[in-house]
Formats: sequence, structure tokens, C-alpha cells
Amino acid sequence: SYIPNIEVMKAAYPVMPVLAIENVEDAIPLAKALVAGGIKVLEVTLRTEAAMEVIKAMKTVEGAIVGAGTVSTTQQLDELQAIGCDFAISPGATDALLKHGKKIDMPYLPAVSTVSEVMKAAEYGYNEFKLFPASIVGGAGLLKAISGPFPAFRFCPTGGISSADYTDYLALNNVECVGGSWIVPADALKAKDWAKIEQLAREAVAKAKA
Ligand code: 3PG
Repeated sequence: SYIPNIEVMKAAYPVMPVLAIENVEDAIPLAKALVAGGIKVLEVTLRTEAAMEVIKAMKTVEGAIVGAGTVSTTQQLDELQAIGCDFAISPGATDALLKHGKKIDMPYLPAVSTVSEVMKAAEYGYNEFKLFPASIVGGAGLLKAISGPFPAFRFCPTGGISSADYTDYLALNNVECVGGSWIVPADALKAKDWAKIEQLAREAVAKAKA
């Protein structure tokens, strides 16, 4: 797993931007700004034409740990492994993905939104999950409830989380990082304001560690 230990993970990678990048030329300056600001784990969603090229470009930035998001097919898992992607994340899970995710040589994080989905993914050998869409399916309250019967399972919640509540999630002992699009505001990306993005990253990490 790319998450070696929850305390290490929380300390080193507490916030993970969920990115949808249209322009490949933004990839390197964006990744450099985030890494400089202390955010090293980046989720590049496969929601744009450019996504695969963006992942390859970001992988050239020293210190960046670049994964793919919105992974919905086993073929995408194979393609991502072939380009050297660091990890893959899905917004949900299927039997095919759960099975294939355990066969490939790249960390794969399936998503859950219910206790039964957690139990099913656990049958395939998973103990770390994305919770999606976190704010809609129960948020921090749901994660706290799951830690009762399943204290060993770890989560990265995303979906509807904001600068106002991400620390509520990080305070939970079964949450290792939080993700979301709020970390890189669309207007700053559009304006290619890398200095602002670096500053926002630095603030997000500082608040997470406080
Ligand atoms: C995801 O794929 O994790 C979500 O789209 C991120 O959700 P957010 O845009 O509400 O942060």
C-alpha cells in the first residue's frame, strides 16, 4: 500500500487535491506549486482528455506522488500501471475492479459509501478505502460509526469536503487523509496563479497539522 502507517500518512500527506486538468501545459507548474506548498500526493482524475498526459508530466516533478482518480475500468488500471502512475482511486467499486486491483502492481484504492460495501471490499482483501461522496453519505459521523465494528479500516474521504470542515475528518482516528477539489480553486488554476496555489497549499497543510 502507498499508505504505510496512518500517523506517517497523516503527518506527511494530510490533504490530497482532486484535480481535473484540461491543459497539459498546466501539469508541471501546478505540481511544482503544490509540492512547494507541502502537498505531495496528487489525484489526477481521468475526466479530461489530457489526464494521462498530465499524469506523465506531473510524474517528472521531483517529490510528487501522482495518482489517477475516477478510475472506472480494469483497462484503465492496466494503462495507468503501464505509464508508471503511483496509485489509482475509483469513485466506487465493482467486482471486476476489486479483483483486478489486487492483481496489479500499483496501489489501488476503491471507494465505498456504505458498511456493506466496506465488508464486500474487505472480502477481496482491502482495508483502506475512499469514502465517496463523503459529505452526502454521512460524513464524519458515518466514519466514526464504522470505526466501532471495524476499527482497523482506514479511509480517505472525498466529495463535498471544504476548507471549513476538512479538519473535522482528519481528527478521526480512521481517517488518513482528506481529498477534494477545494484545495485548488478553479479560478486560481484558470488564472495560472501558481504562487497563490502554492500559498493555499501551504495554508491547507498548516491547518491540517495544527
Ligand atoms: C472526487 O472525485 O473525489 C470528487 O469529485 C471530489 O469531490 P469535490 O469536488 O466535492 O471535492
